[in-house]
Amino acid sequence: MSPSVIKITDQQAIKSAIAALSDGQCVAMPTETVYGLAADATDGEAVARIFEMKGRPRFNPLICHVSDLEMAHQHGCFCDLSKQLATAFWPGPLTLVVAVREKSALHPLVSAGLPTVGLRCPEGLASTLIQQFGKPLAAPSANRSGRISPTRADHVAAEFHDTNLLVLDGGPCERGLESTIVKVEGNRIVVLRPGSITAAMIKAETGVMPEDYAGGGIVAPGMMTSHYAPDATVILNCKSPPETGAWLQFGETVATKLPHRNLSVSGSLTEAAANLYGHLKELDAMNAGTIFVSPIPLGGIGIAINDRLRRAAAPRHNHDT
Ligand code: TXA
Ligand code: MG
Repeated sequence: MSPSVIKITDQQAIKSAIAALSDGQCVAMPTETVYGLAADATDGEAVARIFEMKGRPRFNPLICHVSDLEMAHQHGCFCDLSKQLATAFWPGPLTLVVAVREKSALHPLVSAGLPTVGLRCPEGLASTLIQQFGKPLAAPSANRSGRISPTRADHVAAEFHDTNLLVLDGGPCERGLESTIVKVEGNRIVVLRPGSITAAMIKAETGVMPEDYAGGGIVAPGMMTSHYAPDATVILNCKSPPETGAWLQFGETVATKLPHRNLSVSGSLTEAAANLYGHLKELDAMNAGTIFVSPIPLGGIGIAINDRLRRAAAPRHNHDT
């Protein structure tokens, strides 16, 4: 058994994906953030298959992907502020947690029995796929539980090498970090997971400065302390050249004999976000034991990059998704 990887330029790609989804199977699809492991969000068995394939230790809610605001309205209740956010940032890397509509056909397993659902309208091929399938797709990142999210089709194929998963190959993901997740509570906007839609962008659009989620149980598995973890130990904020292990640099390259990668030579945080998971995977594959990471500035999308790196560096006893 091995995954079949089909280029999205192949005429048959979408047809094959729709056939598999209609049969209750999972399909890996590219999105602008990371690759997702998608299944029909209205089919309980198909959704259960996602948890099974990922080895997700318990049923955490999944993001439900829609093709447009109209499909979103069939499944979630949007207040004015949520609607404003969706109109401004969709299609794009923003997930909105809203109340599930009473008549929604979503299977309750998608939101793990919660009265809310995380809805996201992705860009490009994923949106075409959902539109042609005609139903929303539940999709977590297409990695096995606790491991680094995939930003290329070959990452997914390697992760699920022992299955016959269909992987749609759309090339490298443009953003490279999972979507920003927000929840509107009255006239407040709470960020459950930072991403490339930044607080400043949300403030500029709505006039409301988003707040960071302030604790009280795990609302999103991306909030588990250990997450996005490579096999190697990860040490952050390495300001002087390490003597052993591997080095993940940011900004001007510093000569080193150690295995190394540079997230962005020009110091671009957007480029660094897109390269983060791929570079971590490559250094991890070199079995260096420890990956030292140069400091990454905390502004804009740097907040999301540092968030993921902190989780990659955290002790591993409590990891998820
Ligand atoms: O960019 C992304 O968001 C990617 C691509 C594939 O779309 N998906 C992704 O899914 O990162 P996943 O399962 O790895 O992360 C989903 C996050 C989890 O932290 C989950 O707890 C949160 O979304 N979530 C989903 N529904 C929720 C809800 N009703 N309330 C709170 N958090 C929710
Ligand atoms: Mg994930």
